[in-house]
Amino acid sequence: MTRRSNRSGVAKPLYSEFEVAVAPGAQLGEGPRWDAATGTLLWVDIPAKLVHRYDPTDGTDTTKPVADVVSLALPRRKGGIVFGLPDGLHLLNGRRSIGPVAIEADRPDTRTNDGACDAAGRIWVGTMALDERSPVAALYRVDPDYAVTTVLTGTTISNGLGWSPSGRLFYFIDSPTRRVDVFDCDLGTGELENRRRFAAVEVEGAVPDGLTVDAEGCLWVALHGGWGLNRYSPEGELVATVTLPVERVTSCCFGGDDLRDLYVTTRREGLSASERAAQPLAGCLLRLDVGVAGLPTDAFAG
Ligand code: BGC
Ligand code: CA
Repeated sequence: MTRRSNRSGVAKPLYSEFEVAVAPGAQLGEGPRWDAATGTLLWVDIPAKLVHRYDPTDGTDTTKPVADVVSLALPRRKGGIVFGLPDGLHLLNGRRSIGPVAIEADRPDTRTNDGACDAAGRIWVGTMALDERSPVAALYRVDPDYAVTTVLTGTTISNGLGWSPSGRLFYFIDSPTRRVDVFDCDLGTGELENRRRFAAVEVEGAVPDGLTVDAEGCLWVALHGGWGLNRYSPEGELVATVTLPVERVTSCCFGGDDLRDLYVTTRREGLSASERAAQPLAGCLLRLDVGVAGLPTDAFAG
């Protein structure tokens, strides 16, 4: 592992070794979320309509087919999971399925996309324009009583979401803006204010996708089209990059008992036959040791 300074203004590779946790992989692997209660990692294959659960203790990866394209799967404090379909959020506990908690359920031009829980047990979930170009999507907050509040409109592809260790800052990516933005966040009320740019993601051919925040308050941002991830300091400075042999890196999350394993999802969908041949790991779930621990994944309190 090499850690080099950023004094030149260009972050150098921090780490490019990894393990393959799950192969063969997904068409569009997304949304890794560590479920501490079960010691497993939830993730999804969006177009395959599959919720995956990976158990690092024995290396098994089980899949649950759901009714439609599935954009996220989050742990729930009372057991089971919450998952996102184009019509909103659905709850699954054992065989019992409840839903949807409607989110743009009547909109044929959008679907839910990335989402995460805050420390108060709310879900924050965004939508995306199916044409990936029109600013017709939004970001919502779903409280534990299932009340849905619109928190941001005019987005195009709502992606990475996360909080600073104190919970006072909320990070958000609308992928086509090629920025990470930051808001002041009141976790008591769930209100956001003072949107500003946190970092510009200047990687040729790439847009920022999912993100996670580590225990040092730094952000790990998956680069869709950028062959890896960028790490940003709490001040928004690019401090490290990770290079992977997969072009479309979609999201990341720390997991494991000590939260020191960085799980990274990737995408095979949309690659040409020759690109697929050159990227045999596209779609796989990867695991990296980047020398730092993550923050616990919060679970939905509803
Ligand atoms: C979406 C994809 C999109 C990608 C890059 C993902 O979160 O699910 O459909 O192409 O972001 O913007
Ligand atoms: Ca995403």
